[in-house]
Amino acid sequence: MSSELKTRGADFHLHYCARNQGKTIQSNELMELINNGKATIYHDNGDPSNGIDLKTTLKEYGDGEHLYFCGPTGFMTAIKNETKHWPPEHIHYEHFSAVSQEQNLEKKSNTEFLINLNRSKLKFKVEANESIIDSLRKNNFFIESSCEEGYCGTCLTRYLGGEPDHRDTVLNEKDRKNFILICCSRSNSPELVLDL
Ligand code: FES
Repeated sequence: MSSELKTRGADFHLHYCARNQGKTIQSNELMELINNGKATIYHDNGDPSNGIDLKTTLKEYGDGEHLYFCGPTGFMTAIKNETKHWPPEHIHYEHFSAVSQEQNLEKKSNTEFLINLNRSKLKFKVEANESIIDSLRKNNFFIESSCEEGYCGTCLTRYLGGEPDHRDTVLNEKDRKNFILICCSRSNSPELVLDL
């Protein structure tokens, strides 16, 4: 991302948090960013109170400023809590794993529903024990996917009707008004209309 931003001439700052020097990536590019005042490294030695001060760092956002973050679940949750006042469409994140997603699924029970493929004029049932993408495959309708756990965004699909039950860890509230990740999310309504 920093290479792309440099190419675009965009202003940015990287905040890199690691436990200690031994857990910090050794990279010429990172050193160059630090030397140019474009990156800050934080070592907390296992105690978050010694690490980055998220409250102060994220207190204000500049005009047009976007925040991108990834990391362990506790770190992600702490950042989300400190950015509730940011415009949701300016917040972007990616989980290292689907841990949060698994926790999410444990709390929810699955029921069957119909998917209505608007452009194809087809309807398929999604059984309680399968995902939307599984149901599509079973009916010879293939959609590109990767993680299949709701954190990469590859299976992004527009929906046109119904009430999705979003179970991903990628989309923000604005995205969720129009899109669904069909590898993991389901439907709260008996029928979900997809732009497929
Ligand atoms: S395939 Fe990764 S979010 Fe659906």
